[in-house]
Amino acid sequence: MPTVALGAIIGRSLAAARGRDCNLAAMEIHEVAVVGLGTMGAGIAEVFARAGIGVVAIEADEAALNRGLGILDASLSRAVSRGRITAADQAEIRGRVRPAAGFSAAAGVDLAIEVVPEQLQIKRQIFAELDRVCSPEAILATNTSSLSVTAIAAGTANPGRVVGMHFFNPAPVMRLVEVVSTVLSAEGVPDAVAALARRLGKTPVQVADRAGFVANALLLPYLNHAISLLDAGYSSAADIDLACTAGIGLPMGPLALLDMIGLDTSLAILEVLHGEFGGDRYVPAALLRRLVEAGRTGRKSGRGIYTYPGGADPRSDAGPGEAGSPPDTVTLIGSGDSAEAELASVLAAAGINVTRNAAHRSDLILIAAQAGRPVLPAALAAGRADEAVGMHLPGTLAPGSLAEVVQTSLSSPVAVSTGMALAAKLGLSAVLAPDRPGFLVGALLYPHLADAVRMVQDGYASAADVNTAMTLGCGYPTGPFELLDTAGPTTVLAGLEAMYDAYGYPSFAPPPLLAEHAAAGIAFTRRGAGPRSADATTAR
Ligand code: CAA
Repeated sequence: MPTVALGAIIGRSLAAARGRDCNLAAMEIHEVAVVGLGTMGAGIAEVFARAGIGVVAIEADEAALNRGLGILDASLSRAVSRGRITAADQAEIRGRVRPAAGFSAAAGVDLAIEVVPEQLQIKRQIFAELDRVCSPEAILATNTSSLSVTAIAAGTANPGRVVGMHFFNPAPVMRLVEVVSTVLSAEGVPDAVAALARRLGKTPVQVADRAGFVANALLLPYLNHAISLLDAGYSSAADIDLACTAGIGLPMGPLALLDMIGLDTSLAILEVLHGEFGGDRYVPAALLRRLVEAGRTGRKSGRGIYTYPGGADPRSDAGPGEAGSPPDTVTLIGSGDSAEAELASVLAAAGINVTRNAAHRSDLILIAAQAGRPVLPAALAAGRADEAVGMHLPGTLAPGSLAEVVQTSLSSPVAVSTGMALAAKLGLSAVLAPDRPGFLVGALLYPHLADAVRMVQDGYASAADVNTAMTLGCGYPTGPFELLDTAGPTTVLAGLEAMYDAYGYPSFAPPPLLAEHAAAGIAFTRRGAGPRSADATTAR
């Protein structure tokens, strides 16, 4: 068939679909249906009810319904016990939720959102039911985090009214909603859903239908990288998580977050991302797969990377070994830069004797480590490499901030434990890092930042939308581009180049847009600073 004729047919059917939906966008949302009352569904029902919107809560049977309402009740009771709402508020909010074990109760709703397991077949059946019972005016939304919204929409009678409305876990807390439109979406429907998200007290980011949207497409490869570092014995689970909380300021470490999201859910999302984009960064870590096969799916099953409540998996406990004593005298070796000056001042403040001459007796040789530069050459040059460790301070020197104790292949166990004890004496949280590019914080952070740059470079989302998605969806203290500007595009570029040289993974190759910013000395978050600075591209 000639292209023009095919295009005309597609155009006519789209127009027909859109014509049927022309008044959807203008409608007021008074009542919604939430289909599926698992953790996310119950949280979403709570969000609607708290905003004064009536909720028809639908589950397959009474037992599932009661479980879901139990989650909702527990969350509201916690809010009462914390003094966030009164008991009267709780009763009023709960009174807005009308449980139903079947779809017919959704006949009068203005919007229905499905929050069921991530299987296209199940979702299609639900949308077929919603198609049957809901008014033709109603908007149908999916909370899918990884499936194609387009594929879900295309299976319905009226694809124009189907959009993605993606909430984040825990739904009552996280302020982001990704509103996902498809090539079939009727004009105005995504805007109406974005307006609804604002009414819920959330911030919408509007995007096109691409695997993982913004937040999961950035979060999941970073989480996958963290578990692959654990699998490789690069670092312990506790240190990987501490590197990200104390070193970057994230609210949870990546391994704890994997357990919260669910290892099975994370694996499924990675498989979808790998199917869509290919490439090494999305290949699920073998350990992730094995834990899922073993039924260790995270918090929900009581055991994932960690054991709940409270305990840690033995594998994750592999620390530096024997606890050492802090040194009285340290030989400090640096290259006369700010890293050395910073270390010298904290050592002096802690009353530790410092010598600069490796020929003098001391309890530890301490190399002032710099990101992107290996420690071993300086340790070898000192002539006592077994007594040497590096120390890298990636953040500020506030008490409790992070020190990376860098272990070379010649560092003795005594040197490592003395280095860890020294960090504790200096009031720093310490992680043990191998003498590899990026040490631990950079190894986790730089590829994550490169993914964010690639997303902007691809024209999928603006730097501003990426920052919004990660701060409001995942609780980052600042967005990836602010983190990148704080670290400095040149530093991040150098770190990625070193990682790419060492490992050769294509995903570590610095994106051209990063190299351009580094070369031109342009920040990503400065308005008007270059062709694709924050707000320069539009999320579609
Ligand atoms: N339900 C309801 N409220 C909850 C909650 C839950 N499950 N968990 C925590 N809260 C509330 C608490 O009641 C508390 O509220 P108040 O301030 O009103 O008292 C507030 O959240 C803070 O909780 P805590 O003090 O107990 O704990 P915290 O300060 O350590 O914060 C956290 C907990 C909000 C989960 C925080 O660690 C965080 O932001 N983590 C990152 C979460 C994240 O990245 N989510 C996105 C995951 S990806 C996703 O969801 C998408 C997908 O498709 C997979």
